[in-house]
Amino acid sequence: MEDLPLVLSHAYINGQWIAADNGATLSVVNPANGVLITEVPDMGTSEAQAAVVAADKALQGWRKTTAKHRANLLKAWFELIVEHADALAKLLTTEQGKPYKEAYGEVIYGASFIEWFAEEAKRTYGDHIPAAMPGNRYLTIKQPVGVVTAITPWNFPVAMITRKVGPALAAGCTVVVKPGEDTPLCALAMAKLAEQAGIPAGVINVVTTARPAEVGEVLCTHPLVRKVSFTGSTPVGKHILRQAADTVKKVSMELGGNAPFIVFDDADLDKAVQGALISKYRNAGQTCVCTNRLYIHDAVYDQFMARYIEAVADLKLGDGLAEGTEIGPLINARAVAKVDTLVVEAISQGANLVLGGQIADVGEQYYQPTILSDVTEQMNIAHQELFGPVTTVFRFNDEEDVIRRANDTPYGLAAYFYSRDNSRIWRVSEALEYGIIGINEGIISTEVAPFGGVKESGCGREGSKYGIEDYLEIKYLCLGVDQSPQY
Ligand code: SIN
Repeated sequence: MEDLPLVLSHAYINGQWIAADNGATLSVVNPANGVLITEVPDMGTSEAQAAVVAADKALQGWRKTTAKHRANLLKAWFELIVEHADALAKLLTTEQGKPYKEAYGEVIYGASFIEWFAEEAKRTYGDHIPAAMPGNRYLTIKQPVGVVTAITPWNFPVAMITRKVGPALAAGCTVVVKPGEDTPLCALAMAKLAEQAGIPAGVINVVTTARPAEVGEVLCTHPLVRKVSFTGSTPVGKHILRQAADTVKKVSMELGGNAPFIVFDDADLDKAVQGALISKYRNAGQTCVCTNRLYIHDAVYDQFMARYIEAVADLKLGDGLAEGTEIGPLINARAVAKVDTLVVEAISQGANLVLGGQIADVGEQYYQPTILSDVTEQMNIAHQELFGPVTTVFRFNDEEDVIRRANDTPYGLAAYFYSRDNSRIWRVSEALEYGIIGINEGIISTEVAPFGGVKESGCGREGSKYGIEDYLEIKYLCLGVDQSPQY
């Protein structure tokens, strides 16, 4: 494909670009128009096993390399990603649908994890612990966990790979990546750049498949795999946790969310409107940290809503590669049907349709930016991760009440609130049961801060100085020292 130089049609195992053993393929289509981009291998259990064995073989050499050596290779990979950012962003938009500007932002965000962990590789210090016995010395060293399975989602097909593979490689682990079925092309392109950067065969493997359950089972149960890092839905995360339990693998789970966004009566309303807009409609609402429930204080409700409705109505829907597009298509027909069903059901339960509420006329997979008001916690929509361009609006008039309602969910990934009162900022930040809190800010993602949830939103943290720890084991060395002669 002329315009998409990084399109690859083979999977990557043990440094080889290969087809599926039985030649089966999986079609990758552009969600903006349903056009076939290419086909990639539809691999099964035998290829998954081969990838694990290759990663284990490569681990024997990779884990012994110096942190500096690994850091230099990661830096070379980072530079190649940045150099190819435009091509990667076009590829990302073409297979995933998000507007080019967001896709470009994701590539740079994705690259930042490789750069960050190249730096962190050199700082995985151990300890010297003051001994409890006269003839002993105590030390700790940190060692790579081993072979890692990285199961990554379609909504961030570059950044969710780098957020896992960056720290894994920095720590001295090797990886088998299983990208989402809808978006395998970015994963392959990233592996190609890793190969060009000089990352050795078997250190990164990419298994593409249309059979995630089959392949996932091998990758989450194989005894040679020592860690599973998964980003995706809570039900699948629970299933993976059960699979990983039999061989007691280390796990990192970045699962679903039901983010509240609270606008208090002392908020800067213009900033709150902008924050809610970006946090809700980024990637057409398809992120785990997207606002899912918008709570507006009664005293500012009318003012806020007037500005918010105007801003949402202005959002431009279209092909992500077209100039000025702000909202692209949803990932597939199932996603559109799910969003539409939730909206129709909420309206039938008494929600008020303020804006949108239908599949858009731009194409089958586009959903109109939608606002539903008068939503209550009795409605199903209040408890579902929407993953679409739909704002559900709730009212409140009491701080304690809104915190209780915001926390009344099994999820605990991200929450947002707008207020200018310092005491309230501390109180509310401490009371919200979430792993990430945006305070007067609608975008919270960065490589330098820890990303992750509590409750059924998962375990482990990605990015930041904590992100590499999930890929390291601490080993305690107890050294007996001959005490004679005594000085
Ligand atoms: C996600 O939706 O899982 C990731 C969002 C982000 O990193 O900003």
